[in-house]
Amino acid sequence: MDTVQGLEDYKLKEIQNIALSHIDFLRENFHFEDLDFFIQNIRPFGSRISGFSKKNSDLDIKIEYTGNAREDDLFNALNDKKAKLKIENIKVDFYPEKIEAWAFPRRGNWATHVSDWRGNWSPEVARNLILRYSKEGEVLLDSMIGGGTTAIEAKILNRNIIYSDVNQEALDRTKKSLGFKVENKSWQRGFKWDSRNLSKLEDNSIDLVLTHPPYVDIIKYSEGKLVDDLSNIHDIEAFCDEMEKVAKEFFRVLKPGKFCAILMGDTRRNKMYQPLAYRVMDRFLKAGLLLKEDIIKRQFNCKATGFWVTKSKESNFLLIMHEHLFVFVKMLK
Ligand SMILES: C[S@@+](CC[C@H](N)C(=O)[O-])C[C@H]1O[C@@H](n2cnc3c(N)ncnc32)[C@H](O)[C@@H]1O
Repeated sequence: MDTVQGLEDYKLKEIQNIALSHIDFLRENFHFEDLDFFIQNIRPFGSRISGFSKKNSDLDIKIEYTGNAREDDLFNALNDKKAKLKIENIKVDFYPEKIEAWAFPRRGNWATHVSDWRGNWSPEVARNLILRYSKEGEVLLDSMIGGGTTAIEAKILNRNIIYSDVNQEALDRTKKSLGFKVENKSWQRGFKWDSRNLSKLEDNSIDLVLTHPPYVDIIKYSEGKLVDDLSNIHDIEAFCDEMEKVAKEFFRVLKPGKFCAILMGDTRRNKMYQPLAYRVMDRFLKAGLLLKEDIIKRQFNCKATGFWVTKSKESNFLLIMHEHLFVFVKMLK
């Protein structure tokens, strides 16, 4: 999509932002409490995009979302006649569409979030997981905390969190990023631990594990300086062996009936697709966890994209544009 007919001066991002602000306004003023929806994508479509609009055509905007809200309920709420959105006198009609894939094009810049820890996950991924799979006051674990995204979200959402990493730099940054005030009594505790050995944590003590491991050595977090850093491992089988140890620890510390979520991506070697995510997932199953969800997460803003775009054209392969967000459960025995 290049332009919206009648709104040629607006960039797509601007139209998306106007739509988002309007929906935020509706949420605040029109009691959307019962509607469980997370916006994944906002996309103008219809006659104003195809170039066949008339003078009085509305602008149709598709709202792709995940969550339990029914499409018809959301449709009625978003198109409430009392608060119709108009952009330059063009009426906007929203068409909600429920999807299974998650996509968070916005990096998230509230609280102390910054996205300069390479390969950090979107605050919205952490937020969605926390809201969906835990309750206020519960204890979460992210044992590969990186830049601190999960800890910031846990604090905002009134969950307690134990966070750890092998990299002291990650722990320092996380501690610093937690220096903001909230009106709840949640606590945050950080430790320098290897995820393969969480022996300081008791069995059955954690309400939700959520973490984002390295994807083999695609991003080397400590440039080979820390021996325990799993991002030093190039060999996929050896990486999976180590991730199985991590999975065993997650299984041990998790309370029965509770969830463990990990985000994993795939890679290519010698032009061939390597299903790293599925191979790691298999090790989690081996450790005793059961797979509740395999959520496909669309990938944005990947630093390596430029390099791979050239490569993919040279060698005729497709770019990897998704990751897997696996949600496991520890079943009651
Ligand atoms: C993908 S990053 C995590 C990013 C984080 N979710 C964020 O939003 O900033 C992976 C992290 O795993 C850490 N790590 C690597 N090996 C580890 C291990 N054996 N135990 C704990 N952490 C490890 C790295 O230091 C890195 O910070």
